[in-house]
Amino acid sequence: MSKAVQSKLMHVDELSALIGNSVPTVVFLVGPPASGKSTISEPLVKGGFKRLSMDAIRGELFGDEGNVSQGAQVKAILVERYEEALKRKECILLDNTNCQKKPREALILKAREAGYESIALVVMLTPLKTCLKRNKKRSRVVPEDMVRLFHAQMVGKEKPTESEGRIIEARPGPDAQHLFVKA
Ligand SMILES: Nc1ncnc2c1ncn2[C@@H]1O[C@H](COP(=O)(O)OP(=O)(O)OP(=O)(O)O)[C@@H](O)[C@H]1O
Ligand SMILES: [Mg+2]
Repeated sequence: MSKAVQSKLMHVDELSALIGNSVPTVVFLVGPPASGKSTISEPLVKGGFKRLSMDAIRGELFGDEGNVSQGAQVKAILVERYEEALKRKECILLDNTNCQKKPREALILKAREAGYESIALVVMLTPLKTCLKRNKKRSRVVPEDMVRLFHAQMVGKEKPTESEGRIIEARPGPDAQHLFVKA
């Protein structure tokens, strides 16, 4: 009988070593708004991953990460930067919600075509209640319906699967520096 994989309490600084960056790797952070993706992207960037984020591009274009206009243009810039990073065989961190399967698969295909064999999906299983609470408290508040919708997609039919890449589940730990990780 196979042994059930246990969650392990981990410091956020240990995440990049867990994922590994010795070969070209693409990491998708998957989670609804306010699930904590950008917060854990910081230690991953320190660990050598190049962060690509639509919010950061919105900040560059409009001076406001919360400006959701021109979505197609923002996505096109993201894809352009992603393709450039793939050509350079960088370790890439995609810090977007990534809650829908089809767009995820399109980005995974690009990585596979560029010769990447290592794809990881860090699934932020932050409870919906926690996301809603964190969302309310921060400066860039996302409409609550969007948090609910993306959460439902991620845990429902759009849930990442092993066929997409290595699944790493992350749940909030006892403090902001720790996560319960199942890999
Ligand atoms: N482990 C944690 N404990 C407490 N607060 C946290 C934790 N992780 C993130 N937060 C807080 O929750 C809020 C949302 O976090 P963050 O910006 O990382 O979410 P996100 O998933 O990147 O959201 P978005 O998709 O909207 O960019 C922030 O105010 C952040 O400080
Ligand atoms: Mg973010």
